[in-house]
Amino acid sequence: MKIVIIGAKASGKSSLGRELARLLQIKYCETDSLLEDMYYKDTGRSQSCKEIFDILGKEDFRKLEEKAVQAAADLDWQLIITGGSTFISPANRKILRKDSVLIYCCCTTEVLLERLAETTTPETGLSKTVFLEWYKKDIAQKNELYSTFADIIINTGKKNPADLARQTEQLLSEELAVRCTAANTYGKIIRLTTFGESHGPALGAVLDGLPAGINIRENDIQTELDRRRPGQSSITSPRREKDKIHILSGVFNGKTTGTPIALIIYNKDSDSAKYEPIKDLFRPGHADFTFWQKFFNRDYRGGGRSSGRETAARVAGGAIAKKILRQRGVSFYAHTIAIENITAGKIDYEQIEKNEIRCADADAAAEMIKAVAQARAEKDSVGGIVQLEIHGLPAGLGDPVFAKLDARLTQAIMTIGAVKAVEIGQGFAISKMRGSKANDNIRKEGFLSNNAGGLLGGITTGQPLIMRAAVKPTPSVARQQQTIDRYNRNSMISVAGRHDPCIVPRIIPVMETMAALVVLDAWEIQKKLHPGSLAENNNKV
Ligand SMILES: Cc1cc2nc3c(=O)[nH]c(=O)nc-3n(C[C@H](O)[C@H](O)[C@H](O)COP(=O)(O)O)c2cc1C
Repeated sequence: MKIVIIGAKASGKSSLGRELARLLQIKYCETDSLLEDMYYKDTGRSQSCKEIFDILGKEDFRKLEEKAVQAAADLDWQLIITGGSTFISPANRKILRKDSVLIYCCCTTEVLLERLAETTTPETGLSKTVFLEWYKKDIAQKNELYSTFADIIINTGKKNPADLARQTEQLLSEELAVRCTAANTYGKIIRLTTFGESHGPALGAVLDGLPAGINIRENDIQTELDRRRPGQSSITSPRREKDKIHILSGVFNGKTTGTPIALIIYNKDSDSAKYEPIKDLFRPGHADFTFWQKFFNRDYRGGGRSSGRETAARVAGGAIAKKILRQRGVSFYAHTIAIENITAGKIDYEQIEKNEIRCADADAAAEMIKAVAQARAEKDSVGGIVQLEIHGLPAGLGDPVFAKLDARLTQAIMTIGAVKAVEIGQGFAISKMRGSKANDNIRKEGFLSNNAGGLLGGITTGQPLIMRAAVKPTPSVARQQQTIDRYNRNSMISVAGRHDPCIVPRIIPVMETMAALVVLDAWEIQKKLHPGSLAENNNKV
């Protein structure tokens, strides 16, 4: 994240920038100074930007300027004061806009002219009248461009830099607060926003970024929701929700129209009475304490937005992503591999949907179900491990460094409530292996093992992508536990209500659909940035 100050020459960028950096206690740099330093390093000559421009000519000057801008952008959490025309260059604009808050210092042409006359004499070789005409046009053009891109526009005409910095700081915190609400949106090209609370009237999602013409039926979504809904078996929460999906927009005659797809699920069986006695208490293990610390106003009924019920909305949106990927030959299989100390010994995919715990080993499943039932009888809960496998991915999907597919997937899975750890391939166990054993040897027919879990350097190998998530025991338990209330008084709590004695079987469709959103988004990004790299699969949908 960076704060970038743009504006015409003499618009007060430097004085505002320095004052703002002081107020925010962050470092700042000026692209003009960086450019001058770079020139000095290259030539041993100390020259001003204007002189360097005259010496190098426009083209070489722009190249050096781009290098300086990149160097500034590489410094994290910095304030960058740009030169008067830096933002005009599309290459610089691309670098500066990424992950930044753009502050445009604007003021009237008259003020700019006054300041310019005070500080410098333009050495343009033009007559004063011709210069003024040109200058006014230049300012008008910059104003149009800068105000289009800016997140914050600040008039630097009247106030002194200290007052302006305080005003900018206020606008900056409002801007950052708005960005934080993006915590409810996931994805870059395929974007899913979810809304709604556990005991509110409804939950929903808006899925945007899909092209027109994709076949979508309510049933495609309903099938996934049915796998997630409560009350589906003896070992899930008995809350009776049908989780019926309604498509409000974006689909016409069974096909996407290319506009946002709005999906809604009405809450039909919320019983808030059980939450009344504990409304001032914080459930240990749940998000009650932290939500209170942050918002000082929380929907105590069922955990509000921190409820596992929020995941119904992502399953609805993710079901569409999953369907699109299925048509590209990609399948998702999540299954339970451990509950408490009971582990699955074999994988038979046919078994997964045949038992309540969604384990691919029928014998282990029976033991696991017993363990969940026992925990419930003892007014307690249990956790476990889910393995997610993505089959049919082409080799070459993903990005290096910050957008590694491993990083995107683990981040997305960690957004699911109750997931406390995620590993890829051999995960933590690989640290105990020798390199010669850990490496997946390669033959022309393919890889000889899959310890890497289908990813090398953040890019798919074409082998199944394997990851595992550790799911904690459900926080809400009927046993007596120690806690405090919102007035910081010690208290005891036992949570009645209808809770999952084990979250694992219900998290399975959530993991699959969340991973589908990540994969589809990465795929669509790649289609745009490296068209042809997944050519074989590109035209399937
Ligand atoms: C599908 C699903 C169902 C859940 N059911 C419950 C539940 O019945 N009771 C409960 O206390 N927590 C439940 N949770 C877990 C809480 O949402 C989660 O523990 C809480 O938000 C705190 O977040 P954290 O565990 O990620 O820190 C569920 C989570 C998911 C994903």
